[in-house]
Amino acid sequence: MNKKMTITSIKKAKGVRPLVMITAYDALFASLLEPSSDMILVGDSLNMSFAGKSDTLSASLEQMIYHTNAVCMGAKNSFVICDMPFGTYANKDIALQNSIKVFQETPADCVKIEGGEDKADIVKYLCDNGIAVCGHIGLLPQSVRGEGGYKVKGKTKQEQLQLIQDAKAIESAGAFCMVIEGVKAEVAAEIAKSVDIPVIGIGAGVDVDGQVLVFSDMLGLFEAFTPKFVKKYMDGASLVKEAIKNYSDEVQAKEFPQEIHTY
Ligand code: KIV
Repeated sequence: MNKKMTITSIKKAKGVRPLVMITAYDALFASLLEPSSDMILVGDSLNMSFAGKSDTLSASLEQMIYHTNAVCMGAKNSFVICDMPFGTYANKDIALQNSIKVFQETPADCVKIEGGEDKADIVKYLCDNGIAVCGHIGLLPQSVRGEGGYKVKGKTKQEQLQLIQDAKAIESAGAFCMVIEGVKAEVAAEIAKSVDIPVIGIGAGVDVDGQVLVFSDMLGLFEAFTPKFVKKYMDGASLVKEAIKNYSDEVQAKEFPQEIHTY
């Protein structure tokens, strides 16, 4: 994964190999993720795991631009996606104005917007105006207050049909790939088969075109709760706490700094 991905190589990967997407919010972690990921998502989830809020809704465009610049600095060879926060793509004109701001003020390769058939006209307008768009269908975190919670999608026949319509509408509108979140695995698999662009899953089973996880979840750093779909690849929180405790103990015992740390 040394060569920087483009929307063309991302589209071509469909059916060839699964794509790896991970979130990052800063330069340091972006540089650590870069060697093993195809795409880095500066998700508005940063409002929760970075800013400590209870949902993503209060993330601002300025915040996203700040973090996207940091990520791009740390991972200069990565395809970077800037998540458009709640309220910044409420209609075509607002969406274009804000996406242009992202493209002018960061080196992000594309923007991501949540929504399906209902957002297709906005996706088309952005694509027609030179903005690369990653869609996001299924469970939409920005709808958490509107829907009264995080709802897994695709449980009823009606929802399944709507999801397929959503995926097709986003593809026809010009998106080069889409995230599918919180959808029954067999439904997500059917959706991935029904479109020609990559469908990247989170909580959507294995039979899609790639996976995305929030880095602080997969590294076990975020302790508040662990969604069913998260696999912790390390127990980051315990490791960090143990290291900090060792430092604290050594400072109090005057065991740090030693000779080798002293000028
Ligand atoms: O904001 C985010 O991190 C996301 C992922 C959950 C896909 O949108």
